[in-house]
Amino acid sequence: MELGDITIRRAVSSDAATIATLHTASWRDAYAALLDPTYLAGPIEDERRALWSDRLEHPDPRRTTLLAETADATALGFGCVYRDLDPAWGSLIDNLHVDPQRRGQRIGSHLMEAVARCVETNAELSGIHLWVFEANEAALRFYIRLGGEVVERSASQVPTSRGRTILRVFWPDIAVLAACPGQVERRGA
Ligand SMILES: CC(C)(COP(=O)(O)OP(=O)(O)OC[C@H]1O[C@@H](n2cnc3c(N)ncnc32)[C@H](O)[C@@H]1OP(=O)(O)O)[C@@H](O)C(=O)NCCC(=O)NCCS
Repeated sequence: MELGDITIRRAVSSDAATIATLHTASWRDAYAALLDPTYLAGPIEDERRALWSDRLEHPDPRRTTLLAETADATALGFGCVYRDLDPAWGSLIDNLHVDPQRRGQRIGSHLMEAVARCVETNAELSGIHLWVFEANEAALRFYIRLGGEVVERSASQVPTSRGRTILRVFWPDIAVLAACPGQVERRGA
């Protein structure tokens, strides 16, 4: 998928370090007030590197990771989706992160469209969902604007989150999310 000078493609095993670096930078920025500062300052780096090496070296047929990058292969963001993961809620968007320096430029919207399109054709279940920290108000606004509905509350399992509240955001029809959310009309904050 190409969007001007931005390309979105499937990640491969050699992208593991790049995605781990993006993931670490995004958590340090977006979750600074949510996760333990000691964890964010250190252990997160090795942990994210191990996670992405494992995921990309051991493909799961249900899982796809997409990487957004510039024409000169500078990484901008990534999304990871599991097809048909939950009988009630359908496919799961497990991660969505944009480089903290590049947020608010529609990269996240296009990644959401791309992950939805990616599962749309092969999924047996029509729904798609994700979990977001309740306190992550900007991301929650972003998902609501893309048509998601908050359907459930739970406690986070993310290390050092101290069980903070997370919300399940659900789209009953993947096709709606796959239909160019980057063009969704702004309704104001
Ligand atoms: C949420 C996120 C993926 C959205 O991607 P994006 O490329 O910034 O979003 P877009 O440009 O397509 O859309 C802009 C909207 O994103 C939301 N947004 C969330 N965090 C933002 C940020 N730090 N800067 C700008 N917009 C942000 C806002 O709702 C914004 O709308 P607004 O302009 O009315 O405030 C991205 O901002 C991000 O990586 N945030 C930090 C990590 C995160 O929270 N991931 C989701 C975990 S569930």
